[in-house]
Amino acid sequence: MKTVIDMQDVSWKKDGKTILSNVKWKVNKGEHWALLGLNGSGKTTLLNIINGYIWPSTGTISVLGQTFGKTDLRELRKSIGWVSTSLQERLNERALTEDIVVSGKFASIGLYEVAKPSDFEQAYQIMEQIGCSHLIGRTYQTCSQGEKQKLLIARGLMTDPKLLILDEPTSGLDFLSREDLLTSIQKLATKQEAPTILYVTHHIEEVLPIFNQTLLLREGSIFEQGRTEDLLTTDMLTDFFQTPIEVEWKNKRAWMSVAVSGEREDAITT
Ligand SMILES: Nc1ncnc2c1ncn2[C@@H]1O[C@H](COP(=O)(O)OP(=O)(O)OP(=O)(O)O)[C@@H](O)[C@H]1O
Ligand SMILES: [Mg+2]
Repeated sequence: MKTVIDMQDVSWKKDGKTILSNVKWKVNKGEHWALLGLNGSGKTTLLNIINGYIWPSTGTISVLGQTFGKTDLRELRKSIGWVSTSLQERLNERALTEDIVVSGKFASIGLYEVAKPSDFEQAYQIMEQIGCSHLIGRTYQTCSQGEKQKLLIARGLMTDPKLLILDEPTSGLDFLSREDLLTSIQKLATKQEAPTILYVTHHIEEVLPIFNQTLLLREGSIFEQGRTEDLLTTDMLTDFFQTPIEVEWKNKRAWMSVAVSGEREDAITT
């Protein structure tokens, strides 16, 4: 299967307000996407649609070859790993880290089904791969924010997903923990049979080289989409954010700063 996500003219209206409008977006196998956009631009809503948590008001969508409306979404969700900070609040703080990871197998929040020894073997392997196996035996509540995020990614990998959604996975991390987590993500993406990754962030320097494609969302519409190196430029992002900014590329990552007053005002188009 070549196409991982295919959205055609997807819109979502809520209480008379258009939150997403006319999204046309295709994700192919072999691509990893970064999603950028200001608060409220519709990123999480878009991801909620992909996961079938909300239903589009108009348009068609297929994910991993399953057309919505003709498929069992609960089954589809098993092929999608989902990591967001809102998930943290729903987990049992007193559970052991390995139980948290294993619970991903059942795509549920607690351990409602009985896990087999082989499930734990798998959890240990994934924890090793993500760099959090030293946390085995500890309770979730004793882990730092960065460690918790790694555990959530490990949890999201338990079903061997084809699609992994990371919605601001580095929020609340110090800069070293953040780099550490990014290294784990880069490693994961370069593995054979790696899932397609969608990565939401507010910090463009987190767009690792593996994220070869980028989607820019503004006020519920796609502002631009395409190759990351073509999109993360001074001119494009100045236009996108409607603020004079400067982008510098260093170590195959883009870094953004607000331009010194006056320097790039010419570049803003209204
Ligand atoms: N269930 C809902 N009911 C009403 N409005 C909603 C609902 N869900 C989202 N919205 C609105 O839709 C807009 C987009 O929200 P969304 O959470 O997708 O933004 P986001 O791009 O993920 O923002 P952030 O960067 O802050 O996470 C916001 O204005 C939000 O208030
Ligand atoms: Mg969001």
